[in-house]
Amino acid sequence: MSQNYRIRGTEEYTRIYNESKTSPEEFWGGIAEAFSWSKKWDAVLKWDFNQPEVKWFEGGKLNLSENCIDRHLNALGDKNAFIFEPNNPNEPTEYISYSELSKRVNRFANLLLSKGIRKGDRVCIYLPMIPDLPVAMLACARIGAIHSIVFAGFSAQALASRINDSDCKMVITSDGSFRGEKSIELKNIVDEALLNCTTVETVLVVKRIHSKVTMMPERDYWIAPLLEQQSEVHTAEQMDAEDPLFILYTSGSTGTPKGMVHTTGGYMVNAAYTFQNVFQYEPEDMYWCSADIGWITGHSYIVYGPLLNGATSVLFEGVPSYPDCGRFWQTIEKLNVNQFYTAPTTIRSLAKESLDFVNRYDLSSLKTIGTVGEPINIEAWNWYNDNVGKGKATVVDTWFQTETGCILISPIPNATPSIATFATLPLPGVQLVLLDDDGNEILGNDVKGKLCIKAPWPSMARTIWGNHQRYKETYFTAFPGYYFTGDGALRNEDGYYRITGRVDDVIIVSGHNLGTAPIENVINEHEKVAESAIVGVQHPIKGMALFGFVSLKTIELDDENLLKQEINQLIASKIGPIAKLDFIQFTQELPKTRSGKIMRRILRKIANNESDSLGDVSTLLNPPVVAQLIELYNTKFKK
Ligand code: PRX
Repeated sequence: MSQNYRIRGTEEYTRIYNESKTSPEEFWGGIAEAFSWSKKWDAVLKWDFNQPEVKWFEGGKLNLSENCIDRHLNALGDKNAFIFEPNNPNEPTEYISYSELSKRVNRFANLLLSKGIRKGDRVCIYLPMIPDLPVAMLACARIGAIHSIVFAGFSAQALASRINDSDCKMVITSDGSFRGEKSIELKNIVDEALLNCTTVETVLVVKRIHSKVTMMPERDYWIAPLLEQQSEVHTAEQMDAEDPLFILYTSGSTGTPKGMVHTTGGYMVNAAYTFQNVFQYEPEDMYWCSADIGWITGHSYIVYGPLLNGATSVLFEGVPSYPDCGRFWQTIEKLNVNQFYTAPTTIRSLAKESLDFVNRYDLSSLKTIGTVGEPINIEAWNWYNDNVGKGKATVVDTWFQTETGCILISPIPNATPSIATFATLPLPGVQLVLLDDDGNEILGNDVKGKLCIKAPWPSMARTIWGNHQRYKETYFTAFPGYYFTGDGALRNEDGYYRITGRVDDVIIVSGHNLGTAPIENVINEHEKVAESAIVGVQHPIKGMALFGFVSLKTIELDDENLLKQEINQLIASKIGPIAKLDFIQFTQELPKTRSGKIMRRILRKIANNESDSLGDVSTLLNPPVVAQLIELYNTKFKK
C-alpha cells in the first residue's frame, strides 16, 4: 500500500488527514495503486448525495479474492493466513497458510460453479466460526457471487426473511455449531427456514458437530466429498469496481432488516487501509478479532482487511467463558497475539470475573487492543487498559457501522491520543460533522449534535438491496446533502469525538443492533397482547437491555410469568434469542398523545428510573396510566 499514506506519527496524521480532505481522489487513488487491478479505473470518485449515488474507481476491474490471496502467494505462500482456534481447547489448533487457503478457496469456487452459481447470484452463508466460513466467502468473491452472511444465532424465520429478500440461490451451512458446552443444530434451522423459501436450489453442508441431519435429495450435499473432486486451480472472475461484493443485513428502526450492499473496489481499498493504520499492523504480527464473521466487524477485520495486508488472523470458534473465563487471555498468551479486537459487552462480562483469570497469563505481546460496536463506559475502558493492556498497549475505541463498511473514527496508536470513552478523531478520508435538528453544522468545540458525514468514503454501502428509496430515506433525507449515521455524538473542548448512542429506535444490546418496531410486531402477534412498546434501559453487562411495556386485550391475567415466557419464546423463534426482553411490564394501556401515538419518551424515563423528570406531559391523553406505571416500576423493578 502507498507508504505515503501510512500513518506513523502525529504530524503524519495531520498532514495525511488534510491531504485526504483537500484531494480525496489523489489520496484514495494513491492507496488503490498498491493492489492488483486487471484494468485501471477511469475515475476515482463520482458522487451525488442527493440521488444518492456514489461510485469509486469506476471502470476499474479486479477480483477481491485475488487481492486477498494470490497477490501474496509468491512472497507469503507459507505464511499463516488464519489460525483456527476451536471451541474445545483440546482439539488441535489448525494453521492455514496463504497457499493452503488458496487451494481451499479455488476448490470451493469450482464447487460453486459446478452447482450452477454464477456472477451476480446471491449465496447465503449460515455457518459457525470455522475455516469453511472465510473460505466460502472468498470463493463467492472469486467467482463474483454476492455473499449474504447471516449470523448463525438468528432463528429460522429471520434466516428465511434474509434469504427471500435477496432471492438467494444457495445456502452454505453446517450440521451444527459448538458454543462452549452447547451445540446448535444449524442444518435443522436451515431446513425449517427453507420451508418458506422458493429460490434456494442447493444447500451445501459442512460436517462439524456430527449430529444427525436430514439431507433432501437433489438439494442438500455434504461439502467435503464434493470439494475433493474439485481442481485447486481457478481463474478469478474480473469484477467491475462497483459490482456488489456482499449484502449484509442490519436492523432498521422500522420494517424488515435492511440488506446493505457493499461493492468491490472501494471496500477493498478502505478495508486494507483502515486495518493497517488502526491496528498498526506489522508483517510479523499476530492479529485477533473475536467478533463473529456474521457481523460487519468480522467481514472487514477478520477476513478482508487482514488478508489484504497479508496478515495472520486468528479465527476463534468458541465463547469467552469456555472452558473458563480465562480463555481469551490464555489464547493471547498461547498465540502471542499482538493486536486484539473485541466488544465492550465482552469486556464487561469478563471484568466481573476474578482478575486471576487475566493475571494467570502473559499478555505482554499485546500492542493494540480495540473495542467496537457500542459506547464503552469508563469502567470497562479502564479495566481493559489496566488489566489487559497493562497500560502499555494502546486502546483503540473504533466507531463504524454495517453501513460504513470500515472504521471511520478511531485513535491511531503512536499518532493520535487514546482517550477513555472517546473514539477521538476521524481517519483520513472521513469528513465528520455534527448537525443540529435543523440541519445546520455545529461549529467549534465543546458541542453536541447528530453525527453526519459530509463526503463519501470508499467503503460506504451503495444501496439497500432492492430498495434504493429506503436507502435514500434512511440515510440522506433527514439532512439533505449529508449521510446521517443515526448516532448522536459530542465533540469536546479539544475536538475529540465521543459517540453518545443511537438517536433513533435502534437499541444496541450486547453489541447487537435491534430495531424496536420489528420486535414489537412479533410481540403483538401474541393472542393476549393489544400493543407493546420497547425501550432501552442501561445494563451493567449488555450496555443496554430491552424493557417492554405490553398492554393486554384482557384485564384478567392468570399467570404473568407464563405469558412473559411465551412472549420471549415468540421473539426467540421469530427473530433470535438476542432479541428477548430482559424486563416486561404488563399494563392495561400505554401512555399516548392525544393523536394516539405511544409516548416512548415517557416510557424510557420510567424504565430508567427517571420518572421524577418526565418533561412535558401536556399532550398526554391518559395521565393515570403513567402514574400507575411509575408505581408498578417502583414496586417491581426499583432496587
Ligand atoms: O451506534 C453505533 C454503534 O453501533 C452502531 C453500528 O452497529 P452495527 O451496524 O451493528 O456495526 C457494529 C460494528 C461496527 C453505530 O451506529 N457503535 C459502533 N461502534 C461504536 C458504537 N458506538 C460507540 N462507540 C463505538 N466505538
